[in-house]
Amino acid sequence: MKINKVVVIGSGTMGSGIAAHLCNANIPVTLLDLKTEISEKARDKIYNSRPPLLINKSKINNIKVGNIEDDFEVVKDADWVVEAVVERIDIKHNIYEKIFKNRKKGAIVSSNTSSIPIKVLSEKLTNEEKKDFCITHFFNPVRYMGLLEIVKNENNDLDKINSLKKFCEIELGKGAIVCNDTPGFLGNRIGVYAMQVAMTEAFRMKLSIEEADAVFGRPMGIPKTGVFGLYDLIGIDLMADVLKSFIKELPENDKFQIVAKEIPLVSKLIATGYTGRKGKGGFYRMKKDNNKKILEAINLETSEYSPTKKIDIGIETVDINALIKRKDKYGEYAWSVISQIIKYASSLVPGITDKFNDIDEAMRLGFNWAMGPFEMLKSIGVKNFFEKVDNFENNKFLEDLSKSKDENFYGERQLYTNIQTLGKIRPLAIKVDKNNSAEIHRFKDFNIVEFTTKACALDYDSMDALKNATDKPLVVINESMQFSAGVNLSYTMGFANKGDYKSIEKFIKYFQETCKTLKYSKYPVVSAPSGLTLGGGFEVLVQSNFVASHTNIVIGLVETIVGLVPAGGGCKEMLWRWSQSEEAKKNPDFAPLKVFDIIGYARTATSPTEAEPLKYLKPEDKKIMNRNSLLTEAKNIIDQNTSFKPPEECKFNLSGKPLKDKMIKILENLYNDKVILDHGMKVGMELANVLSGGDTTIEKTLTENDLYQLELESFMKLIESKQTQDRIKHTLLTGKPLIN
Ligand code: NAI
Repeated sequence: MKINKVVVIGSGTMGSGIAAHLCNANIPVTLLDLKTEISEKARDKIYNSRPPLLINKSKINNIKVGNIEDDFEVVKDADWVVEAVVERIDIKHNIYEKIFKNRKKGAIVSSNTSSIPIKVLSEKLTNEEKKDFCITHFFNPVRYMGLLEIVKNENNDLDKINSLKKFCEIELGKGAIVCNDTPGFLGNRIGVYAMQVAMTEAFRMKLSIEEADAVFGRPMGIPKTGVFGLYDLIGIDLMADVLKSFIKELPENDKFQIVAKEIPLVSKLIATGYTGRKGKGGFYRMKKDNNKKILEAINLETSEYSPTKKIDIGIETVDINALIKRKDKYGEYAWSVISQIIKYASSLVPGITDKFNDIDEAMRLGFNWAMGPFEMLKSIGVKNFFEKVDNFENNKFLEDLSKSKDENFYGERQLYTNIQTLGKIRPLAIKVDKNNSAEIHRFKDFNIVEFTTKACALDYDSMDALKNATDKPLVVINESMQFSAGVNLSYTMGFANKGDYKSIEKFIKYFQETCKTLKYSKYPVVSAPSGLTLGGGFEVLVQSNFVASHTNIVIGLVETIVGLVPAGGGCKEMLWRWSQSEEAKKNPDFAPLKVFDIIGYARTATSPTEAEPLKYLKPEDKKIMNRNSLLTEAKNIIDQNTSFKPPEECKFNLSGKPLKDKMIKILENLYNDKVILDHGMKVGMELANVLSGGDTTIEKTLTENDLYQLELESFMKLIESKQTQDRIKHTLLTGKPLIN
């Protein structure tokens, strides 16, 4: 069955997110609400959303709007009707009655409910109607969250459910997991339980909220918002409603009940308007003092706020074993939380699903965890786990495992999809090499490099891995949130703080050499990015021979923000790309001025569609909705290029001084208008020097090496300046730019 037209009913957070994402997949969609003004407003919100819900803003008019009285006719034409109205069963039942009276025969009808069982939702439907009815539970924000839980009823036409699953997987790019009709399905049942355990244990062990978030965060492979930060983000009041629903729906002896009990401090926060980021603040709050913003954290015992304390537990990347082996309160807290999550999740198999594997994937796609509870168990090791764990009675999964002691219990990953994902391929590949920043795997006749640092930031070791992996066709890809946020600034500042600029220069030269090797290697190199692809990360991509990009990327050269210029070939490659345009052929200054604008303003794109006009991506680069497919697409590119020939070296004719003067004029205007300050001027002048070709004339032909050298010289001048170092330190400390 084909899905050509969709109607979404309810244009709130979820309805508008779903409509926007259908628009991203080029599926015509109509968004209905009680009044047309409501759905119109929702469409405006979609247009202005940040991060953007739309991949291509110009397509906004593909979302039609209307109201459920005057425009219900559209349902007659739809192949799929998605209900995303408020979580009230009476309202939902009324809507279904109306939909089934009007729908095209055989059209799918689904609900986005997060808590109402399908048994209850479908109780008024005929058996014939039930055939086409299911739950499609998307996560917020729909464009960015990979998980879609599909819940069937006992009468479903299974072929239809399978074709819906396939549509959602291929066209919408979702990890579509079919699960049983149990409260909270997979993601929320485990995810919310995990949050509650992390919170109640922090209270019990008297940890500060910063300490809890530092442990229940990156070292555990959980987003840095941790638990208290995530509570503030979701809304403390909304979380209270979610808990109430779990308490009501789950049996009394379910372990969830213990951690879902009302906490007096939480009730007090809600009652006083401290509902999180949308309210006056929450566990964290921003206090304004003399025009300065200070982030404060609540004390769980006294409910007093004080400025947050940075907690450094010395584990930068995911390392569960390092965490639980610690003999301090952080180790104790981590073990207590992790072991309870593993015990709870495993106790629910096969009740909530008979495939434990799917629970891990739900946590990865629905909560952005690096690994789910069963992968945590695998990484701890079966023997180690059972040596450490206390009782686990009535948990058949763990009882069986304690007997079999099978360290390989996990088997294949991501069973819910037929796609050959990186996660499935990795265990079958040979681990060729590993250093502190990257891993090289060999699968059949090609290599895979995965960066493994925080935000996949790049250093000497990352380059080493890339360089060493070019002895075969190469795919640069990873499973973490970012492709690469750029060069590791802490690493660079580590040298700068010691005045060791020689080491920085050595690193940049090696970066350049590596990128050159990527570009001209005998075998094709494919970058397959998702998430942040910034600065150095972009330079790796732009000097790869091919790109297979996920549609959720944030891409660009952002070096000027921290007072630097791209020095790994970013200026050079952008100059080359722009110099291939028609305008550039007529005017030799066109390309450099364009690139001056793009890099100078550190322009970024939030999707491939936005990236192409900036020439960060090329029209022939592959753009892929389903992140799981990136490896297969990259592999296809390699297969299609068996007689690959590396590109010709680029040559540049740049105007030199007259062009640099034009750029300086632009900078002076910005300086006079106070858009840039003293150091902004200096950074701009260095960029101008690189992009105008330095001491050259239009007749002189520059090589790629000449451009690399100009980049390096400017980079070194800037990194040695106090003002650039001030910018870097500020960004490392606050995550924000310093304007100086
Ligand atoms: P919301 O409150 O943001 O939006 C609900 C919309 O439904 C409103 O625009 C309202 O005007 C409209 N509405 C109410 N009665 C209607 C009717 N009779 N006909 C047409 N429209 C009507 O709610 P939200 O958050 O978008 O939730 C929608 C559904 O998605 C709920 O079932 C919720 O449980 C579920 N959900 C919510 C998630 C979230 O993070 N907010 C996540 C996953 C599921």
